Amino acid sequence: MIADIDQTLISRRDIATRVAQLAQAIVADLPRTTAGQPTELTLVPVLTGSVIFLADLIRQMPVHLRIHLISVSSYPGQTTQSTAACINQGLTSLPDSLQGAHVLILDDILDSGKTLGLVRDTLAARHPASLRACVLLRKDRPQAAACEVDYVAFDIPDQFVVGYGLDYDDYYRNLPDIVTLKRHIIQPEPASPNPAKTV
Ligand code: IMP
Ligand code: MG
Repeated sequence: MIADIDQTLISRRDIATRVAQLAQAIVADLPRTTAGQPTELTLVPVLTGSVIFLADLIRQMPVHLRIHLISVSSYPGQTTQSTAACINQGLTSLPDSLQGAHVLILDDILDSGKTLGLVRDTLAARHPASLRACVLLRKDRPQAAACEVDYVAFDIPDQFVVGYGLDYDDYYRNLPDIVTLKRHIIQPEPASPNPAKTV
């Protein structure tokens, strides 16, 4: 697995520093109760890519928070481009209403923006008191730049990356750094889409 790495784009140390900063900013932006305390936060991490980011972020946030999972499928299979997005109901644990909740979506990477757009619409339909989005990475693409997002840990070049939760064909999520893979590891794009898989 280590032999498949081409370059380290963001080290585990830089990730840890930035995640701590983000956690502070998110807590500082929460509305306050009459007693001056931060209000409760409802986190909606997008499975599976955001799990490591989620685990590190929430341990730096000393506030009342709840987690509702959302799972989104796209059609990349063994490719590096998503072509569609749909909610995977079986792995999603959203309440019917989010009325009064201050909701923060957490995703691994903003690429075409289809995933975040779908998740945002799905949550907005549940009428939260506020709805924000936080991504670990944002790619340097016009579609990503056009997508509304409140917190970005790192802006990166338009490259395919893995590690710290991000996968290629479901592998490499356990790499502690965010890295690129050697060219021969990434398969050429197939002509037709593979079966849906969870992002
Ligand atoms: P979207 O194109 O913004 O909808 O991103 C869809 C999903 O594709 C993300 O949540 C990731 O799971 C995946 N993805 C996009 N770019 C990358 C990448 O560079 N590495 C790994 N996964 C990616
Ligand atoms: Mg993925």
